[in-house]
Amino acid sequence: MYNNRKSFIIKLLVIACIIYLCIHVLTNNAGPVIRELQESGRNLAALDSANLEQTALASENAIKEAVPIAEPTKEPEARVQKVSTTVQPEKPLTVLEKVKELTQCLDKTLVPKTQQRGDYWVLYNYVTAEKTFKCHESITYTTHADYSFMDNLVPLLERWRGPVSIAMHAPGTDFANTLESIAYLRDCASSLVREYTTFHIYFSTKHVPKEVPKPNAAFTEPYNCSLTPPFLNVTSDNMYKSQKKLLYPVNVGRNVARETAQTHYILPSDIELYPSPNIIEKFLAMIAENKGPLLSKNPKVFPLHIFEVSANQPVPENKTMLKEMLVNGTALPFHKKLCPGCHSVPKAKEWQMANESKGFHVFHVGKRNGRFIHWEPIFIGTHADPLYDERLSWEGKSDKMTQGYALCVMDYDFLILDNAFLVHKPGIKVYKKDARRAMLAAKTNQLIKKIIFPELKVLYGVKKGCAV
Ligand SMILES: *[C@@H]1O[C@H](CO)[C@@H](O)[C@H](O)[C@H]1NC(C)=O
Ligand SMILES: *[C@@H]1O[C@H](CO)[C@@H](O)[C@H](O)[C@H]1NC(C)=O
Ligand SMILES: *[C@@H]1O[C@H](CO)[C@@H](O)[C@H](O)[C@H]1NC(C)=O
Ligand SMILES: *[C@@H]1O[C@H](CO)[C@@H](O)[C@H](O)[C@H]1NC(C)=O
Ligand SMILES: *[C@@H]1O[C@H](CO)[C@@H](O)[C@H](O)[C@H]1NC(C)=O
Repeated sequence: MYNNRKSFIIKLLVIACIIYLCIHVLTNNAGPVIRELQESGRNLAALDSANLEQTALASENAIKEAVPIAEPTKEPEARVQKVSTTVQPEKPLTVLEKVKELTQCLDKTLVPKTQQRGDYWVLYNYVTAEKTFKCHESITYTTHADYSFMDNLVPLLERWRGPVSIAMHAPGTDFANTLESIAYLRDCASSLVREYTTFHIYFSTKHVPKEVPKPNAAFTEPYNCSLTPPFLNVTSDNMYKSQKKLLYPVNVGRNVARETAQTHYILPSDIELYPSPNIIEKFLAMIAENKGPLLSKNPKVFPLHIFEVSANQPVPENKTMLKEMLVNGTALPFHKKLCPGCHSVPKAKEWQMANESKGFHVFHVGKRNGRFIHWEPIFIGTHADPLYDERLSWEGKSDKMTQGYALCVMDYDFLILDNAFLVHKPGIKVYKKDARRAMLAAKTNQLIKKIIFPELKVLYGVKKGCAV
C-alpha cells in the first residue's frame, strides 16, 4: 500500500518535471507565435505558414537538445497540437465581412451641403434616407431625373430594396414641383422612399429658384395624400426647363449621384431601368467568393443586359420569365429598333439561350472593342471608375461615350453577369424624328471630336481598338 503510493508519487513527480521542461522549452521558442495568436484572435492558418514551420522546427530541435530521452519528444508534439486546438477555430467570415476585407473600402456620411459645381449649384444630400450603410454593406443605385420621371421611383425601389442616390435637375419653378414630388413620395407612396432614397438637387446658376428652404426645413407639414401626385401627367410645356429651352445636364446629375453614394459598389443607371430582384445580395455573395475572372488584375465592371417589354406587359421577375417573353415577342433587347450597336452585349445570343441558375456568376468577360467599340454598357462598378463628361447633355447624345473610351484605354474587363438584367419601364420605344435633337447631336459630335477626344488622349493615352 505504502509502496504503491510512493511509486505513484514518484511517477507523478517525474511526469510533472517532464511537463515543466517541455513547457519551458516551448514557451521560450514558440512563445511569440502563441502570444501573437492570442492577441490577434486569428488561427494558425491565418499566420505566415513558413514562419510558423520554422518556429516549430526550432522548438523541436531545442527539445531534442534539452531532453536527450526518446520518450518526452512525443510530448511537445502533443503540446503543439494542443496549443493549436485550444485557439478557437476562426468562425467563417460572413459575406459582408469578406466584402469588407476584399474591398478595404472607406465609409462615408450623408451630410447636407450646398456647393457650386461648374455652372451649377448643387444641394448635396438635400433629403437623406433614413437607413444609412457602411461601404461594404450594399450597392447604391445612382441615378438622375427631373420630377416628371418620379413615377419610376417606387417600382424601382420595390425591385432594388437597397440604397438609391438620385440627383434631380430643378431649375426655376421646377424646384417647387420637385419638392412637392419628393414630399408626396415620402409621405404617400411607399415607406421604401424614406428608408432608402437620398435626393440631391441641382440647377444652373442662371436659373436659381426664388426660394430654397434649408435642407431640414423643406418638409415641415405632412403632404395631403388626397391630392394627385405632382409628377403625374406632366407635359413638357408645363416645365420651366422646356419653357426656357434648357438642355438636360445629364452628366452633372450622374456624377453628383455617384459621388455621394455611401457604398463601394454602385450601379449608375437611368431611372426608367428597373433591376431584376435580389441583385444586391447575390452580387455581394459572388464578390465574397472571389474566384475565376474576379481574380484578374485588370480593373473590372459588371455590365447588365437590358431589355424592354410591351406596354401592357409585366416586368419579368427573373430570367426564366424573361426568356419566355423573349420567345413570345413581348420582350426585346433594349433599343433593338433605335440603336442596336449601343446596347448589344458580347455573347448576347448565348446569354439568352442559357437557363437561369442559382446565384450570380460571370457569364463572359467582354472588352469594349471590335464589334463593341461604341458599346454604352450600364454596369455595377465602383468609385474608382472614370466619371462622365459634364459638358455633354442628354439632348446631344453620346453622353457616355467618353467614359467608354477611358474604360477601353485602361483595359477594363467587362464581367457580364449571368442572371442579372435591367428592364425598361414597359413600352417599346419607337424612333421619332426630332430636328432639334439631331442638330444638337451633330454639335456634340464636333465638341467630342475637336475638343474632348484630344483631351482624353492626353489624359488617358491611346490604345489600338479604342474609340469614343
Ligand atoms: C386634401 O385635399 C383634398 C382634395 O383636394 C381636400 O378635399 C382636403 O380638404 C385636403 N385636406 C387638407 C387637410 O388640406
Ligand atoms: C393621366 O393621363 C391618363 C391618360 O393619359 C389618364 O387616364 C389619367 O386619368 C390622368 N391622370 C391624372 C391624375 O390626370
Ligand atoms: C420566376 O418568376 C415567376 C413569376 O413570378 C415564378 O412563377 C417562377 O417560379 C420564378 N422562377 C424562378 C426559377 O425563380
Ligand atoms: C409571353 O410570356 C409571358 C411570360 O410567360 C406571359 O406572361 C405572356 O402572357 C406571354 N404573352 C403572349 C402574348 O404569349
Ligand atoms: C432549360 O430549361 C428548359 C425548360 O425548363 C428545359 O427544357 C431545357 O432542357 C433546359 N436546357 C438546358 C440546357 O438545361
